[in-house]
Amino acid sequence: MIEYRNLKIAILGGGSVGAQVANLLIQHGDELAARAGAGLEVIGVAVRDLDAKRDTDIPQHLLTTDAPALILGADLVVELIGGIEPARTYILQALHSGADVITANKAVLANHGPELFEAAEQVGAQLYYEAAVGGAIPIIRPLRDSLAGDRVTRILGIVNGTTNFILDRMDTEGDSLEAALAEATRLGYAEADPTADVEGFDAAQKAAILASLAFHTTVPLEAVHREGMTTVTHDQVLAARKAGYVVKLLAICERITDATGTEGVAARVHPALVPRDHPLAAVHGANNAVFVEAEAAGSLMFYGAGAGGIQTASAVLGDIVSAARRHVAGGPGVAESTHANLPVLPMSSVTTRYQITLTVLDEPGVLAAIATLFSDRGVSVEGVSQSVRDGGDSARPTATLVIITHEASESALAATVEALATNSAVSAVVSVLRVEGL
Ligand code: NDP
Ligand code: HSE
Repeated sequence: MIEYRNLKIAILGGGSVGAQVANLLIQHGDELAARAGAGLEVIGVAVRDLDAKRDTDIPQHLLTTDAPALILGADLVVELIGGIEPARTYILQALHSGADVITANKAVLANHGPELFEAAEQVGAQLYYEAAVGGAIPIIRPLRDSLAGDRVTRILGIVNGTTNFILDRMDTEGDSLEAALAEATRLGYAEADPTADVEGFDAAQKAAILASLAFHTTVPLEAVHREGMTTVTHDQVLAARKAGYVVKLLAICERITDATGTEGVAARVHPALVPRDHPLAAVHGANNAVFVEAEAAGSLMFYGAGAGGIQTASAVLGDIVSAARRHVAGGPGVAESTHANLPVLPMSSVTTRYQITLTVLDEPGVLAAIATLFSDRGVSVEGVSQSVRDGGDSARPTATLVIITHEASESALAATVEALATNSAVSAVVSVLRVEGL
C-alpha cells in the first residue's frame, strides 16, 4: 500500500456543483489519490444552510457555515459559491494563506481576475478555473498549455447552454422564444432569473476570460460588447433557416487590426447567423462549443456539456488533481500571462458581414437607389435576393429584399442602416444580423 502525503481540501458551496465535487472526491478518493500522488481529504463543505436539501448526500459532520475557519486549515480551496461576494474575499483569503484555489466562478474572474491572479502570483499560489467556461469542456487548459506555442487569431463560442437551447428549439421545433424559455426553465437549464443568460451577461463574462487567456492580454468585462438574444424573432429564425443559416448567440474574441493599422483584440457577444454547414450549427440543445482558429493549428472545436452539476464537477476535479500534483512536485506553477498587453479595441473597429432584410417599394430604380446607399458608405454588397411582391397596397406594392454584405465595419454598417431607415423607398428595416463563420 502506497502512503501518500495528505492534502486537505475545503469546498466552499455545496450546491449543484459543490455537492457533486464533494461526493466524487469521497467516492473515488483512492483512485484520485493515485492519480494526484497525494491523498485528497475533504475537511469540510461550507454552505449557508446546514439543513438544506442537497443533490447528493454530504456527510453532515463535513457541513459548516464558517467558511473563513475552514479555509485556514486547507491546502486546496475549491470555491463553488458563485457570484462576486463573498467568493472574492474567500478566494483572496485562501491565496494569502498559501492555499491553491480552484474555482468555477466566471463572474468573479471576469470582474476581479487581475486582482486574484496578482494575489496568487505574490504568494506563489495557483488559481485554477477550468470549469468557469464551458462546464465540462476542456478549454482553459488547451488555450493556456496546448496552444501556448501557437497564435490564436479567433474564437467563436457557444458558451451559454440556456440560450443555445432556446434558439435551437426555435429553429428545430418552431417554438416561440417565450415557449422555448419556459421549457428551458422547466428542464432546469435556465436560472430562476434568466436575465444573465438571455441578455448575454453570462456569455460576456466567459468571453472576457477566453479573450484574456487566448491573447495574453487583460480584457476587462466592460470592454466586451454585449447584445442579448431577446430581440431575435421567430420570423428571423425561420428566414435564416430558409437561407441556409442558423441563429446562435456567439461569444467572439478576435485579433484585429483597426482602420489606423493598430493591432489589438476585440470581444463581443451577440446573436449571429451561422451557415448550416459550419460545425457550430450542429451544436444542439444546451450543449456548448468553442471553435478556435490558430495560425499553425488551423481550426479546432471543443464540444460538450456546458453546464450541469456532475458535468461541471468533472472539470473541477481535473483542476483539483492538477493542483495536488503541483503541491507534491513543488515549483511555482503557471502564472497568468498578459505579456502581449494588446490594446482592447472597441466594437466600432470590428468588421464582419451582415444580412439586412428590408421591405421596399417594388418600383423601378429602387434597387439601384438602395445599392447606392450601401456603396456611398463603403459597404460592399455580396448578394441580394428579392421575394415576389409581398405587401403594400395595389397602387404601391412592396417586396422583401435580403442583402448580404462583404466585410464592413460596424460604423459603416450603422450609417448605412440609418440611411436605409429614413429612405422613402424603404417601408421597413425588418432585420439586421451579423453573419459569422463564412
Ligand atoms: P448553487 O447556487 O447550486 O450553490 C451555491 C452553494 O453556495 C450553495 O451550497 C450555497 O449554500 C453556498 N453558499 C452561498 N452563499 C454562501 C456563503 N455566503 N457562504 C457559504 N456558502 C454559501 O451554485 P452552483 O453549484 O450551480 O454553481 C457554483 C459555481 O459553479 C458558480 O460560480 C457557477 O457559475 C459555476 N458553474 C455552475 C454550473 C452549473 O451547471 N451549475 C456550470 C458551470 C459553472 P446553501 O446550499 O446552504 O444555500
Ligand atoms: N447559465 C449557464 C448556461 C450555466 O446556461 O450555460 C453555465 O455557466
